[in-house]
Amino acid sequence: MAFLQVQNIKKSFDRTEVLKDISFSLEKGEVLAIIGSSGSGKTTLLRCINFLETPQAGKITVGGKVLFDSDDKSKKSDLEIRKNRLHFGMVFQSFNLFPQYTVFNNLILAPNLMAKEQIKQNGEYMGAKTYKEAQQKINEEAEALLKKVGLTEKRDEYPCNLSGGQQQRVAIARALALNPDVLCFDEPTSALDPELTGEVLNVIKGLKSSDSTMIVVTHEISFARDVADKVIFMADGVIEEEGTPQQVIENPQSPRTQSFLSRFNRFSD
Ligand SMILES: Nc1ncnc2c1ncn2[C@@H]1O[C@H](COP(=O)(O)OP(=O)(O)O)[C@@H](O)[C@H]1O
Ligand SMILES: [Mg+2]
Repeated sequence: MAFLQVQNIKKSFDRTEVLKDISFSLEKGEVLAIIGSSGSGKTTLLRCINFLETPQAGKITVGGKVLFDSDDKSKKSDLEIRKNRLHFGMVFQSFNLFPQYTVFNNLILAPNLMAKEQIKQNGEYMGAKTYKEAQQKINEEAEALLKKVGLTEKRDEYPCNLSGGQQQRVAIARALALNPDVLCFDEPTSALDPELTGEVLNVIKGLKSSDSTMIVVTHEISFARDVADKVIFMADGVIEEEGTPQQVIENPQSPRTQSFLSRFNRFSD
């Protein structure tokens, strides 16, 4: 069984069917790029996978554990939903850092809350038995993540003093600080000036080599071609075409994929 299995997801808002029976799977360490026109349902799909939206139908399984099943009518507690959400990390287009906290505190805030909760409930957080021990681990991990995204020297800055590219790199480190099984990006470079997209894409590329499992919604077609193991082209709430970058980007079969890609004249960059 694949590491991530998304099966038959359906999502409507009122009478508008936004996701029409979406299924795909991903192996551990693989990168999936999702491309498609605006309004095709890409953000809604990521939000369903992160439990920010509840699909009307479908099933989501990670590492053999069923996290969502529309056939299971038992009510999930808030705690269960929050626990399930921890399997996924989300990086948004608009960074969404906490403006009142330093870079470092943005990274450690959620893990500290989590550690408090989990130590109270299970007597441990990632092997640490006391909150103090956990805090030390969290701090060390945050330092390592800052190094990974190249921002050690910005540790004590506030988000407003960082460029958009730097803010997005902090957002990536913050998502990683909770050790998600799958890291999801929703157009991580769309809000950036063109000269800042490279640094963010390079960080994502770097994560691939450290075996992170990732889903990246992007309009950066050459990035998708170079980094993704799998590409999905979405149109009107369905997966119109999927395969390797060679199949979907270099040699698309569906007329809708061909027409979408012909708008990006970027094959040679
Ligand atoms: N909360 C919502 N309520 C109603 N309609 C929504 C909501 N979120 C998204 N939609 C609709 O779903 C469709 C897909 O949107 P979205 O998932 O944002 O697409 P994409 O990310 O591919 O641009 C659009 O028609 C959008 O208007
Ligand atoms: Mg979107």
